[in-house]
Amino acid sequence: MSEKIRVLLGEEEVDQRIRKIAARISRDYAGKEIHLICVLKGGVFFTCELAKRITVPVSLDFMSVSSYGDDTKSSGVVKIVKDLDQPLEGKDVLIVEDIVDSGRTLSYLMKVLESRNPSSLRLCTLLDKPQRRVKNVKVDYCCFEIPDEFVVGYGLDYAQKYRNLPFIGVVESR
Ligand code: IMP
Ligand code: MG
Repeated sequence: MSEKIRVLLGEEEVDQRIRKIAARISRDYAGKEIHLICVLKGGVFFTCELAKRITVPVSLDFMSVSSYGDDTKSSGVVKIVKDLDQPLEGKDVLIVEDIVDSGRTLSYLMKVLESRNPSSLRLCTLLDKPQRRVKNVKVDYCCFEIPDEFVVGYGLDYAQKYRNLPFIGVVESR
């Protein structure tokens, strides 16, 4: 089966929105340093674009959790595949995610990271699908709320494909 990708959010639109969110974050954290946590693999493109536009000092760490198999349905299982390299104690931590869907991944992750005693812990997501929420998650920064459709691009994959698309698209099978 092949897929067709329909553009939902174009490259320009996404870039402009990321600039806005980065400016807001820079204002909110004025005088502080931000410890950005990129949630692999989906968060990697967004993390880079966001980090480049934040004007306060930034440090970076990476974490990998698994919650999805190679299909479009949640397994409901969250597992830390790769943990952070650095401790969070005393840091202003900002988690950067590609998408909040059911909220299972983030609600689990926020609890785990909160227990490591950061000074503050916030969440920034490129996309949010509020209609799909099963677990309550506080989203501090969101670039776009989108309808309940399976999307790819800008880090998001369908069976590991399409992460490199420079826009957000909807997968339509044909
Ligand atoms: P949640 O735990 O259901 O909130 O899902 C979190 C993860 O599911 C995200 O970080 C993505 O990796 C994946 N995911 C959810 N919706 C989509 C989608 O529309 N496209 C691609 N991946 C998705
Ligand atoms: Mg993700």
